[in-house]
Amino acid sequence: MLYKKIQIDELELFQKKLLPLLPEDAFKLIGVFPQWSDYLMEIQEIKKLIHQLNLHNKIDYIALISMPPNSESPIHIDGDRPECSLNIPLLNCKNTFMNWYSSNQTPKEITVEDNKTYFGADKDSCTKIASIEMNDPYYVSIKELHNGHNPNDTWRLLLSIRLTTSEL
Ligand SMILES: [Fe+2]
Repeated sequence: MLYKKIQIDELELFQKKLLPLLPEDAFKLIGVFPQWSDYLMEIQEIKKLIHQLNLHNKIDYIALISMPPNSESPIHIDGDRPECSLNIPLLNCKNTFMNWYSSNQTPKEITVEDNKTYFGADKDSCTKIASIEMNDPYYVSIKELHNGHNPNDTWRLLLSIRLTTSEL
């Protein structure tokens, strides 16, 4: 399975309490940010959520995912440890998407600007096989080709709880 929607009680309240506690830089950078994991892990609202969902023994790290207006991330596979992610919408997530793809290419290392690399497939070789609106919490597969898409004029922010086991 590529994704599984879940219910979080009082999600709006969770978002409202969490947003003012986030580092200001999280709203300006582009990408996936694990560097605040220890800090996020200590926030009461997050602790409560982890407890409710019974995830405390499964967390690898917690990241923030920030996406600028009118942007689409490269089609990739997450190469690090976690098996699965619980993605929770935090800000401006309505009408933004996570997509999955199949490819006739074997995924490979692709080099972009500044000699940065990612593990993925060329867009031309890919066919979209699934898509979800990222406005609800979902367990998502990060080990299949995927990307994010924000077609809006606003920055999008997600909380990504990276798990050592798959919940799919
Ligand atoms: Fe990813």
